[in-house]
Amino acid sequence: MPTVTIDNQTFEYDGSPSLLQFMLDLGMDLPHFCYHPAMSAPANCRQCLVEVGMPARDRATGELVLDENGQPQIQFMPKLSTSCTQAIADGMVIKSHATSELIRRAQKDNLEFLLINHPLDCPICDQAGHCPLQIQAYKYGPEGSRFEFEKVRKPKQISLGPRVMLDGERCINCTRCTRFTQEVSESHQLTIIKRGVKNYPATPPGVEFDEPYSMNVIDICPVGALTSSDWRFQSRVWEMSKTPSITTSNALGSNCYYWVKDNQIMKVTPRTNMNVNEYWLADEDRLDTKRFNEDRASSPRVGGNAATWDDAAAEAARVLSGMRGDEILFIGSAHAPVEDNYLLCRLADSLGAPAPSFIEHVKPGSADNWLITDDKSPNADGCRRLGMNPLDGTLLKSKLESGAIKAVYILHEDLIGAGACDAADLNNCAVVVHADSTNNQLFALADVVLPAATVVETVGTYINQNGYAQRSQPAKAIRSVNRTLMMAVGKSRADRHGTPFDKWYSEDNLVDCQPGWMSLPLVARALGYDMDYRGPRQIIDELASSNDAFSGLSYDSMGEMGKQLTEINTLA
Ligand code: SF4
Ligand code: FES
Repeated sequence: MPTVTIDNQTFEYDGSPSLLQFMLDLGMDLPHFCYHPAMSAPANCRQCLVEVGMPARDRATGELVLDENGQPQIQFMPKLSTSCTQAIADGMVIKSHATSELIRRAQKDNLEFLLINHPLDCPICDQAGHCPLQIQAYKYGPEGSRFEFEKVRKPKQISLGPRVMLDGERCINCTRCTRFTQEVSESHQLTIIKRGVKNYPATPPGVEFDEPYSMNVIDICPVGALTSSDWRFQSRVWEMSKTPSITTSNALGSNCYYWVKDNQIMKVTPRTNMNVNEYWLADEDRLDTKRFNEDRASSPRVGGNAATWDDAAAEAARVLSGMRGDEILFIGSAHAPVEDNYLLCRLADSLGAPAPSFIEHVKPGSADNWLITDDKSPNADGCRRLGMNPLDGTLLKSKLESGAIKAVYILHEDLIGAGACDAADLNNCAVVVHADSTNNQLFALADVVLPAATVVETVGTYINQNGYAQRSQPAKAIRSVNRTLMMAVGKSRADRHGTPFDKWYSEDNLVDCQPGWMSLPLVARALGYDMDYRGPRQIIDELASSNDAFSGLSYDSMGEMGKQLTEINTLA
């Protein structure tokens, strides 16, 4: 196996990795700005410098030249090298800033150049606190500036498109943003204009930076030059907690972080998972936050009036208990996690009702073979694995009209908003709904409303369109959260920030809702059925041992990166 020696430590390597990526993979801290593993390396920031040496060989014989200790003599290149473009070779010897005063001096001088025209506006910059330039200037930069002249002025507060703003003066011309549009999204909507210290990114004349992945450039910009039109100036990074989870705006389940301040979702950023979304996130995933913060259904309701959870469950039980199973229609949801749909199936089975169906949310033609799918629900595959079939709207209407259905029990869905039926169709039957929003049109007319937790408030399993099982984690707290249960499955923000004395802890914005794995057993028990779980982990364990379509699934096997399940069509 070939070897490379870095800062006096020798490592074996495989293939031909770039030196910078090899060192980063080893966990070494090597300052850099323009390099990104998914794009070409232009080596224009000049910050990732290293000294590169090779064992010297006698020109005549080709033999290694040995020093007085009998060790190969190392001949270092006369100039410093950029590690992002340096290929590793067998026997190579590298000195980074950790062992080379020359490198430390070069990186400090380079940072002084980068900061010459950079505005010192960290106190008002959204990137402050997680800005690579700020961090590296503190760690490796000069103590002060010797630049006593007026800085170059460039355009500020430029709207590049509907979702991205540019501050030209903060740009250090790393070209990550332009390379993203050229090499990754291939929209070619950004380019660098002007020359020398005056250059900055811009769109061609008459073009808007409005591609469906535009907001990725905000994450990869190593300074605060690119900000979100939506989120800028809303919160500082140290005021927020970030929780690893998944997005649910379509059937891919891109991996993400939810950022929370005052128990409100402030922004969504990508989390690297090479099996799902690699380094990126679609704008539709990032903008899917308002429904978590606004118009939330909070506090159970019976006949339109606020009620306790026990009273609401008892009323749901009273409504259902006098009916035959075939008079009750259960409708699950491809927006709800596997755990909730499974319990709904169990409840329907207990009452002798047909298996729940689910509404499909497909927008043909919107998929792009990347991170946007035609299916706009995150768990249709999970519903199918549970034996649920898509809802037949025509059959539903005819059954409602004929009076064959006397009660509809709905999880997370808006039958009217989805066009499955009209409000008038439901006049003669009882409606029980687990709703997460007051915008759910069933909210006003339902006999019983049990407010439902959303994906950012609970643990839940979602199976994406490729059969990849992933679980959400609670990013924000809810009023009914059971800390003990949640601690067993993932820490919410309230868990992490501990006590009401914590300066970031707030009782404001706590929604009185429950995850389905809490509220469905409440209704089942009110009906006299035995349905009791210590938490969602136990539900998945039970499902994995009883249904081949979930074989091998557990919270541990999913971890934070998900687990591939057996293709549903190949199951016996
Ligand atoms: S705006 Fe940011 S990402 Fe784009 S070139 Fe400038 S520093 Fe790099
Ligand atoms: S990261 Fe190597 S030159 Fe920028």
